[in-house]
Amino acid sequence: MKNDLHIPVLLNEAIAGLNIKSDGIYVDMTLGRAGHSSEILKKLNNEGCLICFDQDLEAIAYSKEKLSSISNNFQIINDNFRNIEKDLNQINISKVDGVLFDLGVSSPQFDEDYRGFSYRYDAPLDMRMNQNSSLTAKDIVNNYSFDELLRVFKEYGEDKYSYQIAKNICKRRETKLIETTLELVDIIKASKPKKELEKVGHPAKQIFQALRIEVNDELNALEEALEGAIKRLNINGRIVVITFQSLEDRIVKNIFKKYSVIEGNRINDYINPKDIKTPDYQVVNRKVITPSEEEVRGNHRSKSAKLRILEKIK
Ligand SMILES: C[S@@+](CC[C@H](N)C(=O)[O-])C[C@H]1O[C@@H](n2cnc3c(N)ncnc32)[C@H](O)[C@@H]1O
Repeated sequence: MKNDLHIPVLLNEAIAGLNIKSDGIYVDMTLGRAGHSSEILKKLNNEGCLICFDQDLEAIAYSKEKLSSISNNFQIINDNFRNIEKDLNQINISKVDGVLFDLGVSSPQFDEDYRGFSYRYDAPLDMRMNQNSSLTAKDIVNNYSFDELLRVFKEYGEDKYSYQIAKNICKRRETKLIETTLELVDIIKASKPKKELEKVGHPAKQIFQALRIEVNDELNALEEALEGAIKRLNINGRIVVITFQSLEDRIVKNIFKKYSVIEGNRINDYINPKDIKTPDYQVVNRKVITPSEEEVRGNHRSKSAKLRILEKIK
């Protein structure tokens, strides 16, 4: 194991954003190493309750012990958070007072060489957050058609050299299965011009991001989970979401807008005052919250974080 530590990102901002009441019901959709969950749990009394989701059994085993040392008002659900509605029904919870998403992978997942998330260590091409699911990065790289690879790389990686990379992957696998992260890194590097390789940032970052999103169906899961979580909020309940890349942030921004803005209520429209509809939700922070320079200095992984909050107001 490279590193067992995960430093929670935007911790104070996320906890403040949830506006926790001690007897409320809260859901941490991304338990990870329980950095945020521990702080939520500390704020709850015996009437309160914390429900945590994670699809990674290693994260659950570690965090169960950590949370147990604080109190026992918590329950962990080992499932994809896209199933929030079904899972809450199963434990007879209809409404909740706050939901937190801290998206992406945790530092231990990223650093663990055998999980294949990192372009820095050689490992089997895996990238599954849920180790029981079947699709791996190796399956995608070796079995997707050229067109499918191109779609994944363009849509989820936004890499300028997607075409060349997909082409070179197809060429290489004609002679040999592509099995490891560093084999893929070599193909990506060979697909980019020298001046591109000299730029700041790892040349494989965007393609690794694209594969991870495809393996874990991350964007669809996020949309489904947000819709489910929003429906389950009590009045004054809040959803706090921390994202780390623009595709996720765009989804959050658009869904929050859908619930907090009613089209047709523009100032210039003639609307009978009694017909003016007001939304059930409001965006709490017009300007997205980002980490302080101090936080970024202490935890480089927080650099791209963005936090948004939605509240149910009626
Ligand atoms: C960035 S980490 C969360 C870190 C946590 N907030 C902490 O401070 O320790 C994200 C976690 O969410 C989990 N995760 C990501 N997507 C998920 C999904 N769709 N369903 C369930 N768990 C998910 C990952 O397995 C990972 O453990």
